[in-house]
Amino acid sequence: ESDKQTQIANGQSGWTGVHEWEKEMARSDAKFGPIFAKFAAMPIEEVAKDPQALKMGGRLFASNCSVCHGSDAKGAYGFPNLTDADWRWGGEPETIKATIMAGRHAVMPGWAEVIGEQGVADVAGFVLTNLDGRKLPEGAKADVANGEKLFATNCVACHGPTGKGTPAMGAPDLTHPGAFIYGSSFAQLQQTIRYGRQGQMPAQEHLQGNDKVHLLAAYVYSLSHKEQPEQK
Ligand code: HEC
Ligand code: HEC
Repeated sequence: ESDKQTQIANGQSGWTGVHEWEKEMARSDAKFGPIFAKFAAMPIEEVAKDPQALKMGGRLFASNCSVCHGSDAKGAYGFPNLTDADWRWGGEPETIKATIMAGRHAVMPGWAEVIGEQGVADVAGFVLTNLDGRKLPEGAKADVANGEKLFATNCVACHGPTGKGTPAMGAPDLTHPGAFIYGSSFAQLQQTIRYGRQGQMPAQEHLQGNDKVHLLAAYVYSLSHKEQPEQK
């Protein structure tokens, strides 16, 4: 009986795709319940080393998360990469789980009416040059020194004095442009700052329940912690 469970959980029972897996999951929650419960009782870091758990977590990810985060979990415009070391809300195992359970709603206010169109350009210029050390595009009209002042007045409350971000409010590290989900060109930065952004990660607790979210958290955690589990 438990051999069979292991076989099924390892995807060795001849299913051809995620859809069949889901149907079978729905039919046999009773059968899988004990496996989920076993993993749910283990610390996420431990679950993240178990090949069977990662296989199950990967299936859950493919059917519930890849539509936004990509099948490789590397994200897309507006959707964060979950495989790197940059975390908007925090990368601790329990923080990842909390993100998936309850979802997240990021609120970056728009600044056009507060600092004006030239202010938006100036502070975008400051973000681009001072915080991440790149050069403004040819012909860009931005007063970076004024941008620095605007940053100190309007942005540090959330992004921190050195722009390193505040995970508790999902305010990202502005010194890592490679992890920006809304783009890091001068034009894209102005767009973000002018109108604001409100990224939403949908809560999963009511859809998946604690035990599946625990597996998902372990799977996500494993993606950026590359000591690979032993292959069986
Ligand atoms: C009230 C808190 C708050 C303030 C104040 C704030 N931000 Fe943000 N900012 C955020 C949050 C939260 C996000 C993430 C938005 C999202 O994920 O949808 C964000 C996102 C951004 C991004 C996009 C990063 C990406 O991933 O593409 C940039 C650029 C940015 N802020 C610059 C600024 C600048 C410049 C200011 C000051 C003019 C500022 N922010 C003020 C909270 C804030
Ligand atoms: C409808 C699209 C959508 C779906 C489906 C979705 N996510 Fe997200 N997720 C987002 C967005 C957007 C954000 C970024 C929110 C923000 O702006 O801070 C996010 C953020 C996250 C984060 C936080 C990343 C960080 O840097 O802190 C994690 C972890 C995550 N998602 C995991 C998952 C998992 C696991 C699933 C599947 C159960 C999932 N997401 C399904 C849209 C989605």
